[in-house]
Amino acid sequence: MRHEVGTVKALDGIDLDIYRGECLGLVGESGCGKTTTGKAVIRLHDPSSGHVYYHGKSSENAAPVDIAATGKSTLKHLGIRSKLQMVFQDPTTSLNPRMLVKNIIAEPIKTQERLGSRELEQRVIDLLHLVGLTRDHLLRYPHEFSGGQRQRIAVARAIATDPDFIVLDEPTSALDVSVQSQILNLLKSLQQRLKLTYMFVTHHLLVVKYISNRLAVMYLGKIVEIADTGELFSNPVHPYTLALLSAIPVPDIKGKQRRIVLPGDVPSSVNPPTGCRFHTRCPFAVERCLRQEPLLEAVSHGHLVSCHRKRDMQKLVMYKFGQKRIGSRA
Ligand SMILES: Nc1ncnc2c1ncn2[C@@H]1O[C@H](COP(=O)(O)OP(=O)(O)OP(=O)(O)O)[C@@H](O)[C@H]1O
Ligand code: SF4
Ligand SMILES: [Mg+2]
Repeated sequence: MRHEVGTVKALDGIDLDIYRGECLGLVGESGCGKTTTGKAVIRLHDPSSGHVYYHGKSSENAAPVDIAATGKSTLKHLGIRSKLQMVFQDPTTSLNPRMLVKNIIAEPIKTQERLGSRELEQRVIDLLHLVGLTRDHLLRYPHEFSGGQRQRIAVARAIATDPDFIVLDEPTSALDVSVQSQILNLLKSLQQRLKLTYMFVTHHLLVVKYISNRLAVMYLGKIVEIADTGELFSNPVHPYTLALLSAIPVPDIKGKQRRIVLPGDVPSSVNPPTGCRFHTRCPFAVERCLRQEPLLEAVSHGHLVSCHRKRDMQKLVMYKFGQKRIGSRA
């Protein structure tokens, strides 16, 4: 007999706008809900409640469609499913090892339109060129490629349906460091060329700094801070963001900053802490934090923070850690 032992609320009360043409970075520790957010946004996960509104590139005047509340067949009929794609962390597992590259990339095109075999093959070759591969790669299997090349194939498959929006879930984390920047540059150039909107999921702050124009920081299923990338790196406010930024190595010895080491582990999302979810690890927690949940509120234009003590954070950091700011040189 099956019985429910608990509910994992992987995401809770996330309110997020993603603007056309931008790359929104999503960072946070393992298990905080980044992948779940990405999948919910493109309806690879069915959220138990909430809305995900899609405006679309070509529907300037059309009413937004609630992706979370629309049946999957209707989404397909409206041509929305093919506009939302995802690239996963590990191309070794995300590509079918028994399929030729030609078929891997042709498959999503075939679900969308009927093309003759010549035309279809030419479309696949064009996509291979776009990601830096050639027609010589058409008749090979995924295992005959390097990790970086496999990720290029995964990117070609993702852009095959002419999408508007792509969730990039740690697309460089499984790759050799030397190849990571090549894939990042490829993603950047494709974004401009194809006018794509990205959500870039990672726990690597320097990667996200390079590619994202805006950054959201997640902790235990909630967004705790969101701002333009430059603003977030130079004026971080939430104690969790401060801890993440303080962990980035700084080359300048004179300007060496103190690392904020968070005590304990990330609490379980089955039974998250009351009030502010971060209070069990926060160096600045006060009694109010245990009983009242902070709202995500503006500290400046476009910079939102969820912390009761956000207005005093600079003074608190100075008092506790003896330094004016954290993260500005990262
Ligand atoms: N299929 C599932 N069944 C039960 N719990 C799940 C499932 N998928 C995810 N979770 C839980 O949901 C929470 C968020 O998981 P998610 O994979 O979104 O985290 P993440 O931030 O992407 O982590 P990582 O950086 O390790 O990829 C975690 O507590 C995880 O254990
Ligand atoms: S609300 Fe309180 S516990 Fe939460 S981050 Fe702010 S100071 Fe820390
Ligand atoms: Mg993940």
